[in-house]
Amino acid sequence: MAQNKEDRGSGRLVHLRIRRQDGRDQPDTRRWEEFKVPYLPQMNVNSALEQIRKSPVTADGKTVAPVVWEAACLEEVCGSCTMIINGRVQQACSALVDRLAPKGEVITIEPMSKFPLERDLIVDRSRMFESLKRVRAWIDIDGTHELGAGPRESQEHQEERYPLSRCMTCGCCLEACPQFNDSSPFIGAAALNQVRLFNLHPSGALHKTARLESVMGEGGVADCGKAQNCVEVCPKEIPLTTSLPDMMRATTKYALASIFRK
Ligand code: SF4
Ligand code: SF4
Ligand code: FES
Repeated sequence: MAQNKEDRGSGRLVHLRIRRQDGRDQPDTRRWEEFKVPYLPQMNVNSALEQIRKSPVTADGKTVAPVVWEAACLEEVCGSCTMIINGRVQQACSALVDRLAPKGEVITIEPMSKFPLERDLIVDRSRMFESLKRVRAWIDIDGTHELGAGPRESQEHQEERYPLSRCMTCGCCLEACPQFNDSSPFIGAAALNQVRLFNLHPSGALHKTARLESVMGEGGVADCGKAQNCVEVCPKEIPLTTSLPDMMRATTKYALASIFRK
């Protein structure tokens, strides 16, 4: 759709319907509020929320507390602005208003539902970071500085690992996963993908078995229902459809080998 500088002065408004809640323990304050903000060319949902922050007045003229949300990189790298926009989990900084509401339709914005709500559009994604700790999603380098350069990594491995490394811990895959919820310990696709990523690295492979063991227990890879919703929503197009079966094969192989080792 052609947008130009005439839009800026055209009086065109962007209509937003936002789910709000004042605090983590205040479900009684849960409500919808509507806002109309001036359209700007190339506007995304993040910039629309910034307009509300400048002038937090609802569509029916009531002054309210500014809507709060998280954002840092503004270029779909940090994952912090993830929310549900028009029913689909995605990043506010890359959700273009022209694509969401080409004819001025209402844009509906809600916080992710699978993580504890902090306030308005902010959720607590700590569970994801705890899962990264559980699977040891790093390469230990302490004490290795005197040992010189690490092992060389083949071009083939680099090409396999790069797409896996693009994860920004945004939470989209967990929001969409039927197996991930309050009452399930499942760690989800993002952490399982990290096991594959770090086990492919020549130095990371030194802790390969610890990582495999970390996803063989409760909440591990066996809890994946293989519905593949995660792949559909991953904004970084990480090949989770290959990472999950790869982890299943690796853990099965390791478990069988353990039997023979006894
Ligand atoms: S394949 Fe399905 S069950 Fe497994 S992590 Fe992805 S969405 Fe969840
Ligand atoms: S795997 Fe994709 S959807 Fe899941 S946290 Fe990483 S970037 Fe987000
Ligand atoms: S602000 Fe970082 S992904 Fe949107």
